[in-house]
Amino acid sequence: MSEVERLSTGIPDFDRLLAGGIPRGFLVAVTGEPGTGKTIFCIHFIDQGIKDEDVCIYVTTEESRQSIIRQAAQFGMDFQAALKRKKLIIIDALMGLEDQWSLKSLEVEELLDKVIEAKKALGYGRARLVIDSLSAFWLDKPAMARRYSYFVKKVLSKWDFTILAVSQYAITTSDAFGFGVEHIADGIIRFRRYVRNGVLRRYVIVEKMRQTPHSLTMHEITALDGKGLILLREAGERKEDVALPRSVVERLVRAKAEREKILPGEEIPKEEGFNS
Ligand SMILES: Nc1ncnc2c1ncn2[C@@H]1O[C@H](COP(=O)(O)OP(=O)(O)OP(=O)(O)O)[C@@H](O)[C@H]1O
Ligand SMILES: [Mg+2]
Repeated sequence: MSEVERLSTGIPDFDRLLAGGIPRGFLVAVTGEPGTGKTIFCIHFIDQGIKDEDVCIYVTTEESRQSIIRQAAQFGMDFQAALKRKKLIIIDALMGLEDQWSLKSLEVEELLDKVIEAKKALGYGRARLVIDSLSAFWLDKPAMARRYSYFVKKVLSKWDFTILAVSQYAITTSDAFGFGVEHIADGIIRFRRYVRNGVLRRYVIVEKMRQTPHSLTMHEITALDGKGLILLREAGERKEDVALPRSVVERLVRAKAEREKILPGEEIPKEEGFNS
């Protein structure tokens, strides 16, 4: 494995799940429900890039540039200084501003042009790119997700980027939007959330990482003011993580009994009273 150059995610405990970090040049999908930590994870990745003197570009479609700067500052990361030092460009695709580093539309072609323009402005060398979120670019045409993801990967692969591409999940069904980027991606980092005993718990699992002996274990995480994302512990095989609520189990049992009632040739147990 020694020949693979890896980029730290900025969260040492998370790097350990990935044999040291994300292989250079990879496009990694960061997926999960709202509020699970995707943006904070991306902010760590960029902060680490600033420390490593990488070229850093953050595309934001869900929040304004100012919101990303503020969120980073809450974790002690000075994105404002990095912007001034020309180590970071935040491309704002939300506010519709007229400045050089804003997008006027959510078109994939415009995104790619702007990212390449930013890379040229920041200079040569190893580069980190966050697209938060990439799925925003095909909201109105989900069937294009896979083709667009492929296009993005193909065009940007020539520019020495290691990429985090956020893709959102539908709140109601937990389905990935368009389900495009996950197949194209070299890796998938999946954030999840559950409410257990009235408490919101968040988790992360590495679902895929090519060329990497990665952890297959879900870890509980939390966000701490002043620090950012923290790995708490392995989620393990706790019953409450996998068990269905009692009412659902009872419904399943009833449905199964109903099904078995009408299956021909089935042994029907007498004690269940079906023969009476
Ligand atoms: N300063 C802070 N201190 C502690 N927790 C915070 C702080 N800032 C944000 N959080 C937590 O992080 C959550 C937001 O995480 P994040 O923005 O990474 O979610 P996300 O997965 O990107 O969601 P979305 O899909 O809606 O963009 C908040 O709901 C809150 O629980
Ligand atoms: Mg977000």
